[in-house]
Amino acid sequence: MRAPDILIQEVAPRDGLQIEPVFVETAEKVRLVDALSQAGFSRIEVSSFVSPKAVPALADAEDVFGGIRRNPRTMYVALVPNRKGAERAIAAGAGEINFVMSASETHNRANMGMRHEQSLAALSDIVGPAHAAGLSVNATIATAFGCPFEGIQAFTKIRRIVREYLDFGVDGITLADTTGMANPRRVEHLVQDVLKQVPSDKLTLHFHNTRGLGLVNVLAAHEAGAFRFDAALGGLGGCPFAPGASGNVCTEDLVNLCDEIGLDTGLNLTALLQLSATLPQLIGHEVPGQVVKAGRPLDLHPVPEKLRDG
Ligand code: COA
Ligand code: ZN
Repeated sequence: MRAPDILIQEVAPRDGLQIEPVFVETAEKVRLVDALSQAGFSRIEVSSFVSPKAVPALADAEDVFGGIRRNPRTMYVALVPNRKGAERAIAAGAGEINFVMSASETHNRANMGMRHEQSLAALSDIVGPAHAAGLSVNATIATAFGCPFEGIQAFTKIRRIVREYLDFGVDGITLADTTGMANPRRVEHLVQDVLKQVPSDKLTLHFHNTRGLGLVNVLAAHEAGAFRFDAALGGLGGCPFAPGASGNVCTEDLVNLCDEIGLDTGLNLTALLQLSATLPQLIGHEVPGQVVKAGRPLDLHPVPEKLRDG
């Protein structure tokens, strides 16, 4: 199968549901992940093995991993903050661990209750056992484009964390714009910079559309040489430990953009729109996604009666 121009990792089951105030029943989560597997995503972030007190919405991570029907072509990813989370992810049969630490120490303490050195010590404990159990390890730098408490994060700091992650032997790195503080210029420059350290097939960009710049940031990153992106169906998502956080780049809006400009994603927009249309019932409110409301660009409307001839 030809590699897509843009590889989308679907993160709605994790980033999307972690911030929802209602607890989505385990069976419903399993149904969502199964539908995403059927929709052809090669990577799905399924849940988080974090403290159930910190994120009650994902307290059923084991049961979700235990319940899903796995597509052999799909990588099932679990977010993990520490050694205990890694042990749970290994036992649950995750294919990949997504370790997260924030560039901003303040956000890392708010989110993970850890200083950088504690998070890095945890990562050093995780990589060996995960690899020995056959899992790959991706490491995310949250707040890479700015922190709601500390502001802009220096490139030198991002570079240093990338180097530390690589020295621990991680298989991939994600730069995450946790609260939508990135802009296309900064994205272009940071992506160009980090691509000197990390090859493009190991670098993922994770944008939030908090300030309406999600899709332009994806395009800027793509033009700078990146091709792997996180996105969430319906544009769900957000960090419960960051003030004002809101949704990820919306998967079907991104697929629509790619379809319109001739970039292959390997995903079918019509199928994604049908799936996205089921989300309001699942979570009890409208979703931020736009194409699901407006329809595809060429879903034409009937000509008004008074303009019709005869
Ligand atoms: N899974 C389940 N429970 C865990 C855990 C894990 N990965 N790591 C720690 N715990 C439990 C401990 O066993 C302890 O339980 P107890 O109160 O019953 O004794 C409790 O959580 C507190 O553990 P402690 O080590 O003192 O950590 P903490 O309270 O400082 O919390 C984290 C640290 C990392 C566990 C917590 O901040 C967390 O889960 N954060 C995740 C936040 C998140 O998912 N954010 C959004 C995604 S980026
Ligand atoms: Zn996110």
